Amino acid sequence: MSEPEVVATSEAQIAVHWKEEAYIQPSAQFIAQANMTDPYVHDRFGLDRFPECFKEYADLLDWYAYWHTLLDTSDAPCWKWFVGGKLNVSYNCVDRHLTKYRNKAAILYVPEPEDEAHVAITYQELYVRVNEFAAVLRDFAGVKAGDRVTIHMPMVPELPVAMLACARLGAIHSVVFGGFSGKSCGERIADSGSRVLITMDSYYRSGTLLDHKEKADEAVKTAAEEGQDVDKVLVWRRYPGQYHSATPMQDGRDYFVDNELKTHVGSRIEPVALAAEDPLFLMYTSGTTGRPKGCQHSTGGYLSYVAGTSKYVQDIHPEDVYWCMADIGWITGHSYIVYGPLSLAATTVMYEGVPTYPDAGRAWRIAEQLAVNIFHTAPTTIRMLRKAGPDEPQKYNYHFKHMTTVGEPIEPEVWQWYYDVVGKGEAVICDTWWQTETGGFLCSTLPALQAMKAGSAGPSMPGIHPVIYDENGDEVPAGSGKAGNICIRNPWPGGFQTIWGDRERYVSTYYGKYCRNPESKEWRDWPYFTGDGAMQAADGYYRILGRVDDVINVAGHRLGTKELESAGLTVEEIAEAAVVPVADDIRGRVPDMYVSLKPGFDAGPVIEAKVIEAIETIIGKIARPKHVYIVPDMPKTRSGKIMRRVLAAISNTMDIGDVTTLANPEVVESVRQMVQGEGMVVTQEGPEDLKLFGEER
Ligand code: PRX
Repeated sequence: MSEPEVVATSEAQIAVHWKEEAYIQPSAQFIAQANMTDPYVHDRFGLDRFPECFKEYADLLDWYAYWHTLLDTSDAPCWKWFVGGKLNVSYNCVDRHLTKYRNKAAILYVPEPEDEAHVAITYQELYVRVNEFAAVLRDFAGVKAGDRVTIHMPMVPELPVAMLACARLGAIHSVVFGGFSGKSCGERIADSGSRVLITMDSYYRSGTLLDHKEKADEAVKTAAEEGQDVDKVLVWRRYPGQYHSATPMQDGRDYFVDNELKTHVGSRIEPVALAAEDPLFLMYTSGTTGRPKGCQHSTGGYLSYVAGTSKYVQDIHPEDVYWCMADIGWITGHSYIVYGPLSLAATTVMYEGVPTYPDAGRAWRIAEQLAVNIFHTAPTTIRMLRKAGPDEPQKYNYHFKHMTTVGEPIEPEVWQWYYDVVGKGEAVICDTWWQTETGGFLCSTLPALQAMKAGSAGPSMPGIHPVIYDENGDEVPAGSGKAGNICIRNPWPGGFQTIWGDRERYVSTYYGKYCRNPESKEWRDWPYFTGDGAMQAADGYYRILGRVDDVINVAGHRLGTKELESAGLTVEEIAEAAVVPVADDIRGRVPDMYVSLKPGFDAGPVIEAKVIEAIETIIGKIARPKHVYIVPDMPKTRSGKIMRRVLAAISNTMDIGDVTTLANPEVVESVRQMVQGEGMVVTQEGPEDLKLFGEER
């Protein structure tokens, strides 16, 4: 077992810096070209103008039929936006740009191997590819409006082509992050009821061509065990005509897309006119209990909201070259690689591989070669790039006007490096706070109007009205700097519609805590509970403190502790498992796993390895624990509950607090010695989310 690292407490640093961070103003040059410069925009989107204010966002789109009712609350809290409206997302992201931008690049694709040429896909070419693949889906795979289609693919242009083809037909796509295991994918296939799986044979990661098709076989098997048959697996090939996977193609089930496309060359598929509230996609995310839940996003509301926020926060113009270095398999990629930028006719960059492959300068070479001027990434990547090559950006001749950070709190020191070195002091930074459920940004500065403040997510977006409640449901005074649970008072068009197939879970998870009257049809009675702790400074800027539930934010991605624990419990020797977050200087938070063994088994590296393997195959490598500690017993309350709070304190060398009321206080010291070593107890003031973790609520 390796010694635990004692790492700097990043969020505590933010706390120290909170009051002292100076404002940084955008440059006059940025303001002169910005999309949003109206100083009264927040008045226009005030609560007294709600919901009419969001008409502006809907008007960024082309509608086959204009809507008659802006917001229908009759099925509260399942809100319906732009009712009566008809539109198609693929039309809005592709077809409507053809008159003006036919020959402009829609997607610039960078393969990981540096000797493979970049691929520029114009809007015309994207139109052709989306139509032809939509024809394969409709005419070969029998996909029609309302069907769910699971897509498990790496970062290749065929992925947005597949999403847009589904959208063209009105099929609901469910994209599963390529790094997730076949089993995770299979569970999502079963939950969504997909008959069709779209995948790829292989892709590059850190210089190796990985076998991806093998995951499809595992996924189909898992789905079948759960009662969902997949009748067609459509396999793109990384190199059309050559198959790079050790798994055989199964006759009558698996088909190469490049073969099927041959019979659909030149096909054109009329986009299906969908109701604004028809679902566009499902995106699975982790929650407090049970399995990941399918967040259902709408067609009209979602696309309006991502188009509006891409235009006004990301400041995207059609002339811009925009690179968001997320994976499309997460909500950031859906909203801010595919749908937002393409709805605005921008050029969106996709990179297949690892940002530091083959060396620390790769990201900046790409930025220089493609003349990227808007850049978007997560703190975890910024930390990694900084560690790998703190001076690399200055060696390359690129110029960003705008940079985004998303997914986790960013330490002021890391923010400053991003600003000074990556942005060369020229680019504005938007720290955007939001979630899978919310479709688009909730808080961020509007870059030409509000000054930046390192380590803070900024004020709320136009039309988003946050409120911080305490545990009793009383409002924490605005701007008081006191922490509480951040909620949003009002619905907004980008918000998800429900959890696929589980409305009850949707209502109880997001509205159960603070709903004033469950019978009410009035949106004011239904504040949306985000699951995050936050505080608001006197200037209106919010600082997000992290999750208040059993969710760990690993490198900006959500993992439920319960999911990891159940994966650990599949190892036959394991009796009990408890997962806690531990601070990590690159990935923000990573899971530490504590397990106890059934009688008759002895601790040892074999069992540790089995636990890690179980987690990697059941969930994916992203969930790999930093340590597996095999403990003699778990610290427990007298009623038998595992005290995760105590384990989190041990993992993070924080103050353990009073344990005398536990059923087995002596266990705490032996676990502490196992993790921290013998000798003096070093305790540190922990970051807010780690202090909150495991509290009874
Ligand atoms: O805790 C918040 C954190 O990430 C959670 C949402 O995760 P996910 O649904 O995977 O979406 C990630 C990309 C939007 C939130 O509940 N989070 C997200 N953005 C920030 C953040 N924490 C602090 N600052 C942010 N900018």
